[in-house]
Amino acid sequence: MNIEIIKIPKIDDYRGNIAFIEKEVVPFAIKRVYYLFDIPSNARRGGHSHKEQFELLIPLSGSFDVIVDDGKEKQIIALNKPDKGLLIKSNVWRELENFSSGSVCLVISSGEYLEEDYIRNYQEYLSYINHNSKP
Ligand code: TYD
Repeated sequence: MNIEIIKIPKIDDYRGNIAFIEKEVVPFAIKRVYYLFDIPSNARRGGHSHKEQFELLIPLSGSFDVIVDDGKEKQIIALNKPDKGLLIKSNVWRELENFSSGSVCLVISSGEYLEEDYIRNYQEYLSYINHNSKP
């Protein structure tokens, strides 16, 4: 599976912890940052793959599950610590669900927003990866 858990450096402090994302932490040049917030608990987000772009998802607050699927296997990754992120490389189908109240999902992306980079239909995704998979 084309994913990695990324540990974000942090310093624990009785005044509150601090975590920092410097360029060494992210294995791509950062082009965009966006975040999901005010998410209803029954919402599902994602439901797409990216042809080229990589994304690093970080639960800044609360928790949620990310279901990643490469057409062969599926994994559920629970994100619930602001110093543990999930790197999703290209051509991985993802769905986000089970959001806790007040959760915030930060997404660091390797690309600008580009609708042509998305595949939003699962059948289309399967046929795309079957035609583009490297031997
Ligand atoms: P969408 O990709 O469906 O969200 P998610 O995968 O998180 O469920 O995006 C929702 C809408 O927001 C869609 O109309 C595209 C728009 N959008 C932007 O304009 N810029 C962005 O950087 C992102 C992530 C989304």
